[in-house]
Amino acid sequence: MAIDVWFPLAIYYTDLTNHSEYKNAFLERIHTLREQSGKQRTTESASWTGDVHRIDQIHNDPAFAWVTEQVELHSLIYLKTLGHDLSKIDIYIQRSWPIIATKGQYVARHAHHTANLSAVYYISIPTEGYAGQTRFFNETRQNELSSGIGSNMTEGYSEFNPLNFQQANYDPVEGRLLLFPSKQMHDVAANETDEERVTLSFDLVLTAKNSEDCATPEFLMPSPEHWKRVTQILPETDTETALAGLNT
Ligand SMILES: [Fe+2]
Repeated sequence: MAIDVWFPLAIYYTDLTNHSEYKNAFLERIHTLREQSGKQRTTESASWTGDVHRIDQIHNDPAFAWVTEQVELHSLIYLKTLGHDLSKIDIYIQRSWPIIATKGQYVARHAHHTANLSAVYYISIPTEGYAGQTRFFNETRQNELSSGIGSNMTEGYSEFNPLNFQQANYDPVEGRLLLFPSKQMHDVAANETDEERVTLSFDLVLTAKNSEDCATPEFLMPSPEHWKRVTQILPETDTETALAGLNT
């Protein structure tokens, strides 16, 4: 017999050498940014995330130049490994932000819907106890023959193996850079230790390479260098007319 396994999800990770040289400077800068970010908008059980506190430009901050370069380099390797023709695309770091999780804090299940490729860099990880894994969820469940059979309510599998895994968990490792497709649902489990877990997230976007002399391939976003921002302002009277039309 034979079983072929098709359509794998590709999660990339690498352990960056020299990471410890940058750790303290990153932590100091992140705590300064947090202090400057104003009132906390996240709940007590949620990690503090820079993106919802207007701290989302780590890639433009000279203090993080080294890690930003690493994200760029390893994104190119990841894309090349996935078979992308790098001559056809431009890659932009769109948004990047720090995350601080103290005891009991987690990151709820989500995907990064505005991006194509996302990265996590683990700056500082508690050394004792469970610091919280990054967990990717198998939403397509291509081999699940009866919907929900693997759930806690049914426990229909006698074992979990590469053909029926419902999630893939990654331990946080200091100095590790993790890359994944942005649309992949994931969360980060609660930090159960007394120390902080501090990470960075990056969202990257792929576009067609900026080119004046050829049309944009259909399934790539056109280069933003050719975009035109809509600058017209809708007159109040037009809005009223349109709303009146909806009500009739
Ligand atoms: Fe995320």
